[in-house]
Amino acid sequence: MLTIDVSTLGPAQLQNYLQYAIAPRPICFATTIDLDGQVNLSPFSFFNLFSTNPPLCIFSPARRVRDNTTKHTLENVLQVKECVINIVNYSMVQQMSLSSTEYAKGINEFEKAGFTMLPSDLVRPPRVAEAPVQMECTITEVIQLGERPGAGNLILAEIKRIHIHEDILDEEGKIDQVKIDLVARLGGDWYCRVTPENLFKVAKPLTTLGIGVDALPKQVRHSMVLTGNDLGILGNVEELPSDDDVDAMRTMHQVKEVLDATIGDAVNRERELHELAQLLLRNGNVADALKIVLL
Ligand SMILES: Cc1cc2nc3c(=O)[nH]c(=O)nc-3n(C[C@H](O)[C@H](O)[C@H](O)COP(=O)(O)O)c2cc1C
Repeated sequence: MLTIDVSTLGPAQLQNYLQYAIAPRPICFATTIDLDGQVNLSPFSFFNLFSTNPPLCIFSPARRVRDNTTKHTLENVLQVKECVINIVNYSMVQQMSLSSTEYAKGINEFEKAGFTMLPSDLVRPPRVAEAPVQMECTITEVIQLGERPGAGNLILAEIKRIHIHEDILDEEGKIDQVKIDLVARLGGDWYCRVTPENLFKVAKPLTTLGIGVDALPKQVRHSMVLTGNDLGILGNVEELPSDDDVDAMRTMHQVKEVLDATIGDAVNRERELHELAQLLLRNGNVADALKIVLL
């Protein structure tokens, strides 16, 4: 294993490791304005949602590693404590990237990147009309994390109004995770796109109290077949089945086949039963899968 003492790396090298590992990161496409009314539009992937009550996002324009200068976005929010956070989807990604060019102060990236300015209702910075979601925010705090190259500046943005394009909504008026077609930033030049093939669901262990992986018998935990994900699903059940219920599985056609074919061969019996259970897990039949691995 490569172990790194961060104090031995320069900011650029360290940034490389961190940005490849801490990924994918959502993109805050921030519109800001200075006291003279000059508009700025720049993307920031040091960004996330940190609170829903109050609804608060944080993004971080860092000091440039190259020359330790600060970004126009930071200078603007120190003057006018407002911004719009625009959400980036796949159809905007190339123009968004173009807008991250270090244009001189006063150059409006809306024009350079070919985006349309839409007036906001409550704040002075305009919205990006093309963005599927646009959030008008007030800046509650700016926290400097240092004065050296690469130091971040946390901009705490409280969301006051949200505008959502109707074409990304489902029948209930909620955002459709496929239709929004999000992109995110990874290391170097890498991005990812949230496509239907990449989406999957993990049941929230919110309402139930899972038994935990540690409550599964040793031969299940140390299975040659079951993966960590399989164990995570099994550990999320509320209780182990009764011995009678486990025993009843012996009559299931596929189980019976395995049992008959592996008489006196405990190793292969366990392997084949676990493979069968894994197949059931893939099909969402957690209850029967658990009974089979407990046989
Ligand atoms: C997708 C993407 C994400 C970025 N994320 C950040 C970031 O989180 N922090 C940062 O300081 N710069 C980030 N940048 C670079 C800034 O967008 C770039 O420095 C921009 O020119 C800053 O503009 P400004 O000086 O007009 O504020 C990112 C660039 C791209 C394309």
